[in-house]
Amino acid sequence: MGDRQLLKGMLMFAKPYRKLLLFSLLLTGFIVIASLAQPFIIKVAIDSYIKMNDYQGMMYLGIIYFLLIMVSSICTYFQNNTLQFTGQYVIYDFRQAIFKHLSLMQMDFFRKNPIGRLVTRITHDVESLNQLYSQVIVNLVKEVLILIGIITLMLYMSVKLTLICFLVIPVIAVVTFYFKRVLRDTQRKLRTLLSSLLSYLAENLSGMSVIQLFARERKQLERFNELNEEHYRAGMRQTVINSIFNPSIGLFGNISLALLVWYGGRSVVDESITFGTVYAFTHYVRQFFEPLRGLADRFNQIQAALASAERIFETLETKPTIVNPVHPKELPEKVKGNIVFQHVWFAYKNEEWVLKDVHFRINQGETVGVVGATGAGKSSIIQLINRFYDNQKGIISLDGINIKDVHLNDLRRHIGIIQQDAFVFSETVFDNIRLNHNQVSNEEIIKAAKAVNIDSFFRMLPQGYNTMLGEEGTVLSAGQKQLLSFLRAMIADNDVLILDEATANIDTETEQAVQDALREMSKNRTTIIIAHRLSTIQHADKIIVLDKGRIVEMGNHQQLLNNQSVYYQLCQNLSKGKTLKVKL
Ligand SMILES: Nc1ncnc2c1ncn2[C@@H]1O[C@H](COP(=O)(O)OP(=O)(O)O)[C@@H](O)[C@H]1O
Ligand SMILES: [Mg+2]
Repeated sequence: MGDRQLLKGMLMFAKPYRKLLLFSLLLTGFIVIASLAQPFIIKVAIDSYIKMNDYQGMMYLGIIYFLLIMVSSICTYFQNNTLQFTGQYVIYDFRQAIFKHLSLMQMDFFRKNPIGRLVTRITHDVESLNQLYSQVIVNLVKEVLILIGIITLMLYMSVKLTLICFLVIPVIAVVTFYFKRVLRDTQRKLRTLLSSLLSYLAENLSGMSVIQLFARERKQLERFNELNEEHYRAGMRQTVINSIFNPSIGLFGNISLALLVWYGGRSVVDESITFGTVYAFTHYVRQFFEPLRGLADRFNQIQAALASAERIFETLETKPTIVNPVHPKELPEKVKGNIVFQHVWFAYKNEEWVLKDVHFRINQGETVGVVGATGAGKSSIIQLINRFYDNQKGIISLDGINIKDVHLNDLRRHIGIIQQDAFVFSETVFDNIRLNHNQVSNEEIIKAAKAVNIDSFFRMLPQGYNTMLGEEGTVLSAGQKQLLSFLRAMIADNDVLILDEATANIDTETEQAVQDALREMSKNRTTIIIAHRLSTIQHADKIIVLDKGRIVEMGNHQQLLNNQSVYYQLCQNLSKGKTLKVKL
């Protein structure tokens, strides 16, 4: 992305606050004038009034000087606050925009972008943009104005003295240019390293149990140390460069002053220049090097902000691939639940087909079982039905309408999925079960919980159903999470129900209760059950047998047994105590 486009994007975010920015620019004007005028007033005082013993004039000047300082302080106060506020407003908008955008992205995107990287976008990158709005833009204007003002005033007072003072400027330019280039490389490296570090951290923290289980702590730590050390080196380098650069600019400033005192002093003695002028010059020279140093920093900050902006806009401009149709067809309030797969081919990437020519029909109200070895593609079928992924070939339809022709929310609100691993929000038990079905009463939730034998567990929690769950509260076991997932589906009461190995971690006793609840739920409702225990699907109207992405058999339990083929084999194995997860 070009710098120009980036700037355009950044200005767009600042647009709602342009009045605030303009206001602080206006204040900046006052501040610049006030700070430039101060030495000049003293010069006038020295040259015109002190010499003439003009007390009255001195008093006026004193009052003006005082007022200037007051006005400048007040302006600075307002300018600072306005800028900080603007910065906060803008990054608030940025964060919101990024989060909103991320929530539209398809699962594929999150597989390709490590969580750590995305978190960096919303935190670190946004913060470096904050600097741009709250410091860089206005300070840049201020510094440039001050520099121009000083040069103009100096030239106006004495061309000769100005030239003497600026003898060192070319050297400074070269030094600055050199240092800043080195610094820029270092900073770029620092940022990339920080991003890797954060990604690595996020990945490792979420996979800590695996790391510990397989005693990989040493190995992971070594890699972390490597990254950490690289980051540390780059950081040290930056510090060293800055600690050389800043004093050297100061040194040149002092050399400039020395030249001024030497030449200016002589000129005062032979009366070619007034004392007041030399006095004002010493002030301006000192004032001159401040913004100069500042400008060099601005350059870095702009670089950093641009780099961050580039990453942010890249994220914002990555279009979701799973999108709503332009003219969505509407599904009825209640769908019948006829699901048809027509010669569906699907691959997560390229042409590595995970589903091959999958063709089946599920009629309204049927209960269908899907069986097959691990990796056969069972879960992928579900990912397609609710459009977490899009199939490459073939058509999937619900009640005769291609699912790609309906609004994603419209589609998903009709489908309830009970997964093996339910995500638990940091909310109360009630809220975790209810999700967005606000019309559901607490009594209904409790009734459902009783039906699947988890009511007594929730009641025993410190605040019963109002106990906070999730990372900051009570942590649920794997089986309890599955029951939670089950409850959510019962409460949501979707027209189509899908279970993906949803009872794997539930004890036999509870499973009986769950089976009963499931039988109740699947009445008059299209239900797809991916099961690892045959008992769950024996009574299904239809069983689909998948092998390496292909449907190899289809029929009810009895028909498939009569076939004496794959399913028959499977049952044989199962009766020997193996589960369906074992290779067919
Ligand atoms: N998010 C994913 N990205 C890439 N490949 C995947 C993804 N999920 C599953 N797969 C692959 O697709 C195949 C089918 O997986 P899946 O449908 O989950 O099988 P099952 O549920 O039958 O065990 C497997 O080979 C698996 O490696
Ligand atoms: Mg699966």
